[in-house]
Amino acid sequence: MLNWDSSKKCEIHNTNFLFMPDGEETGESYCPICWRDAETKKLSESFSRQILDADRAKKHNTLVKKSIIQDNTIKFATFDKFQPTNAEEKRNKEHAMNLARRYCDGDVFNTWIQSAETGVGKSHLAMSIIKSVNQFGNQETSCLFIDVARVMELIKGSFNNDESIYTEEYFTTLCGEVDLLVLDDLGAETGDIYSNKRASEYTSNVLRSIFNARQDKSTIVTTNLSGKRLTGYVDDKGTNHAGMYDKKMISRAMVNIESIVFKESVDKRPSKVGF
Ligand SMILES: Nc1ncnc2c1ncn2[C@@H]1O[C@H](COP(=O)(O)OP(=O)(O)OP(=O)(O)O)[C@@H](O)[C@H]1O
Ligand SMILES: [Mg+2]
Ligand SMILES: [Zn+2]
Repeated sequence: MLNWDSSKKCEIHNTNFLFMPDGEETGESYCPICWRDAETKKLSESFSRQILDADRAKKHNTLVKKSIIQDNTIKFATFDKFQPTNAEEKRNKEHAMNLARRYCDGDVFNTWIQSAETGVGKSHLAMSIIKSVNQFGNQETSCLFIDVARVMELIKGSFNNDESIYTEEYFTTLCGEVDLLVLDDLGAETGDIYSNKRASEYTSNVLRSIFNARQDKSTIVTTNLSGKRLTGYVDDKGTNHAGMYDKKMISRAMVNIESIVFKESVDKRPSKVGF
């Protein structure tokens, strides 16, 4: 049974205080309305903190939970594991580490990592950058690494599978909203990159919606395609060769860029053929 302390009154609520349990002996009493308000505030602060923490954790976990990575060795790639074997690789590693620092500081720009040769470490460096941003950057930063060809396959697979979550809408929304995105191996989704094939209209459209949504965000692209193949070019005879993707998409993707190019490096993949 609680008893009123008629010797004290709350000025705000114009009500007498209540004694704490056993408060009649010690004289400890409180305004019940002030007390309730303080408890409500504490509770709502703790809720907001929990929501904020959950939101941060969700963003932080995007990289691990939502990335689409085909090559398992790339999942474990870090700067530490990137061992330069020549001056170009050493330079490229340092450049990549620098860019990672800038992304951590909140700088917004696009990075293109290019080589004609396969297996030189483009995906490895892209993964190293995004991992270090996810680990050392602002806790509010969400990161995602996707293999472009695999994503296009997943989207196509969802056309006649109602159960699949991997719809075009799913990927364009996800890729549009993350703060830092790696589009790995752009061009591979079109099949033979050495042919003159253009990207299918469909692929071009998906990529265009992604780049449209990312105009104020950072994107890292790795590719074997040359600048010429990406943007199109006019040859010696004056013939116009269309680029792989539509111009608008490429111009969005090519604005405000840093580039890392491998020209002298060789394939690091252990050969699987034994002859
Ligand atoms: N300098 C390096 N030190 C250690 N491992 C490396 C290095 N460069 C590449 N690798 C490893 O070699 C393999 C091939 O590298 P990676 O996948 O990054 O090449 P890539 O340039 O993306 O090739 P592709 O054009 O086929 O996509 C990966 O397992 C990667 O971890
Ligand atoms: Mg690669
Ligand atoms: Zn009060």
